[in-house]
Amino acid sequence: MKGIFITFEGPDGSGKTTQMEMLGERLESLGRDVVYTREPGGTGIGEDIRDILLDSSNTAMVHRTEALLYAAGRAQHVDELIKPALGQGKIVLCDRFIDSTIAYQGFGRGIDLGFLNELNNIAVAGLLPDLTLILDIDPALGIERINEKRVLKSGRAKDRIEQEHINFHERVRKGFHHLAASDPKRCRIINGGKDTETVHRELFRIVNEVLLNEDT
Ligand SMILES: Nc1ncnc2c1ncn2[C@@H]1O[C@H](COP(=O)(O)OP(=O)(O)OP(=O)(O)O)[C@@H](O)[C@H]1O
Ligand SMILES: [Mg+2]
Repeated sequence: MKGIFITFEGPDGSGKTTQMEMLGERLESLGRDVVYTREPGGTGIGEDIRDILLDSSNTAMVHRTEALLYAAGRAQHVDELIKPALGQGKIVLCDRFIDSTIAYQGFGRGIDLGFLNELNNIAVAGLLPDLTLILDIDPALGIERINEKRVLKSGRAKDRIEQEHINFHERVRKGFHHLAASDPKRCRIINGGKDTETVHRELFRIVNEVLLNEDT
């Protein structure tokens, strides 16, 4: 059996991690074998790269370095984890993937999209998601949610990307809209501003329709 590769995309605080876990539990309850992973990260090397990328003290990082580091981590992730899991027939759920590169480094940072597409092509070596779920949200609401989480869990400080100005996050959101419009077969946009259960229901409907054909 061939595996299924689903990626979760959207601005910070849009609910990607929450929804990925909810979908994963639902799929596991249907007897599916699910692998959960994330970018940047997913492998030992990838997690080391993640630390460099998100370290808020790395203020000297230039945009090309940032883009290349994301791509380097992705190449490792694809070969070491994603392709083997798909080869074993598993469902791979990945928190961020190629589309975040276009939205953040392209629309956010202003790097040429042609260059980033080429970089993505090199990193994925032919592997594309079967389905990409883009959670859309007003970035101000997303940031508010993250801040609430931070207060509740007296958690970590803002990472290097989260610290960006709201205008940056607005451009990122536009980037995700652009992606959804330019590849509507793979990329499906979902309103992430609704309550968790409503978002899950809509998301599962799409997964079911596109990939599973199970009764809901
Ligand atoms: N639909 C929702 N309504 C209200 N709060 C939500 C909803 N979905 C998630 N949250 C809460 O908002 C916060 C951010 O959610 P989550 O971590 O899933 O987002 P994310 O997109 O993964 O964020 P990041 O980009 O920072 O990884 C969490 O505290 C989560 O519990
Ligand atoms: Mg998350």
